[in-house]
Amino acid sequence: MSQDHGAPEREAPLAAGGAGSIPPVVGGSDAPGLVLGDGPGPVTDAAGEAAPSWAERLGRALMPAFGTPQRTFVSGSGCYLVDDQGRHHLDLLAGIAVVAVGHANPQVARAVAEQAQTLGHVSNFFATVPEVELAERLVALLPAPGRVFFANSGAEANEAALKLTRLTGRTKLVAALGSFHGRTLGALSVTGNAKYRAPFEPLPGEVEFVPYGDVPALERAVDQRTAAVVLEPIQGENGVVVPPPDYLPQARRLTAERGALLWLDEIQSGLGRCGAWFAHTASGVVPDLITLAKALANGFPIGACLALGQTAEAFTPGAHGTTFGGNPLACRAGLATLDQIGPLLPHVVTIGDWLRARLVAAPGVTAVRGRGLFIGVQLDQPVAARFQSAALEAGFILNAPRPDVIRLVPPLIITQADLEPLLAQWAEIWRRATEV
Ligand SMILES: Cc1ncc(COP(=O)(O)O)c(C=O)c1O
Repeated sequence: MSQDHGAPEREAPLAAGGAGSIPPVVGGSDAPGLVLGDGPGPVTDAAGEAAPSWAERLGRALMPAFGTPQRTFVSGSGCYLVDDQGRHHLDLLAGIAVVAVGHANPQVARAVAEQAQTLGHVSNFFATVPEVELAERLVALLPAPGRVFFANSGAEANEAALKLTRLTGRTKLVAALGSFHGRTLGALSVTGNAKYRAPFEPLPGEVEFVPYGDVPALERAVDQRTAAVVLEPIQGENGVVVPPPDYLPQARRLTAERGALLWLDEIQSGLGRCGAWFAHTASGVVPDLITLAKALANGFPIGACLALGQTAEAFTPGAHGTTFGGNPLACRAGLATLDQIGPLLPHVVTIGDWLRARLVAAPGVTAVRGRGLFIGVQLDQPVAARFQSAALEAGFILNAPRPDVIRLVPPLIITQADLEPLLAQWAEIWRRATEV
């Protein structure tokens, strides 16, 4: 795999000296002229007074569901983002494992623009070419015959899967502690995190939670009343937790024996993040349901519920629906994204191995978990939030899913040259995160 994705071309004028150099123009010679701007800079009103920042305006206009934004971004290119003060950042979060083929990706931008000028929406009373093509492309990735239902987000893909589990005639679900499956009431009902669940209880359905990676616990929980077991092949929001190698095969064996479905939520782990189309591929397991979203259209909202075998036949006309699901714009973005993810898979394996090996030796790091570019860095102190802030000041975007874990889920196009500045500055960021 060539190492020239988003290759730096000039030094970045970074506030705290951080993210290294930035490519000024997206995508090389065939890019549609997208230029990485330096942002509008500070704004003043007619009287010369400092106008409220975008973050302040957001704070007044939007519901306070997300806390105060730490930056307002105005443009991006490949692995880099520019904020409204003109500061450049290396993006190691990629919109939470979404922007797989890079910000302002030229092929995706071109596909969406062309589709917007051709056909934007028709409803599910009718077919469109991109919808059919994307469904066929996804089905071709499956290890057994299957079908797709398109949704608009991860939670909605999971809602479709939840409804399919009901059509087994059983209602009990088994899910994992520490799991994350989304914020709609249905998706929350199988999310094993009290912090998200508690304010909204009672949640629908009968769900039994088991410790993740624990085969005997699964053995006890799955019975003849179980409709499905839902698992992330690698838990993302829980800090990139990889289960033992026999976990998914044993979950498959148990569900098959007891007549339950095996539903794998690959919303974060799938579509190249782990160096294969699906994180579960390495296990050899053939599930009944796979849910996808995030990277599927590189940031254009989309979700997909893939069902295999008999489960693919369970929805009858009218059983489920959505206005926007399968929208031709989203599906064209999806096709342009998948075109690029396939050739990147060997690169994701190589660069992921290299990065994890380098991180193991970094200050404050006790372990590095994950696969491909799905990376959880275990710290020896619960200072992940402070590390995240110090990294941001230095021009690196990453996040802290747990108090002692840093998550790195960069665009799959990232190179060693992009990553060297982070590794070079890790010790200084760690020093700032741990100073009293
Ligand atoms: C494994 C998993 N499932 C489901 C979701 C929910 O996806 P969305 O936020 O698109 O609804 C997420 C989001 O982080 C996720 O990581």
